[in-house]
Amino acid sequence: MHSFGYRLNGLLTFAVTVLALMCAITSLSDNFNTPSPSAEIKIMNINWFQKQPQGHDEVSLTMNVSADLQSLFTWNTKQVFIFVAAEYET
Ligand SMILES: *[C@@H]1O[C@H](CO)[C@@H](O)[C@H](O)[C@H]1NC(C)=O
Repeated sequence: MHSFGYRLNGLLTFAVTVLALMCAITSLSDNFNTPSPSAEIKIMNINWFQKQPQGHDEVSLTMNVSADLQSLFTWNTKQVFIFVAAEYET
């Protein structure tokens, strides 16, 4: 009854059960995190603005981007993708 195989089986079963519980708890805990990122962009300089022969405009800007993304980073964050979208009136 208390052979090496039985003890190893019991130990492995216990370890896998504890691991599964820890995974479930950590996965559920991410739902309580409410990220609140903030960002501020200032255009420092418009280097050049050209109308292209193909019909679209092309602009080179110097921007000052300040962002607080700390709240996005939890144990479950693998990657954060950030982009800037710009609109202008002609
Ligand atoms: C960019 O903005 C930040 C915060 O608004 C400011 O502290 C910093 O001096 C600015 N940098 C430049 C180059 O203006």
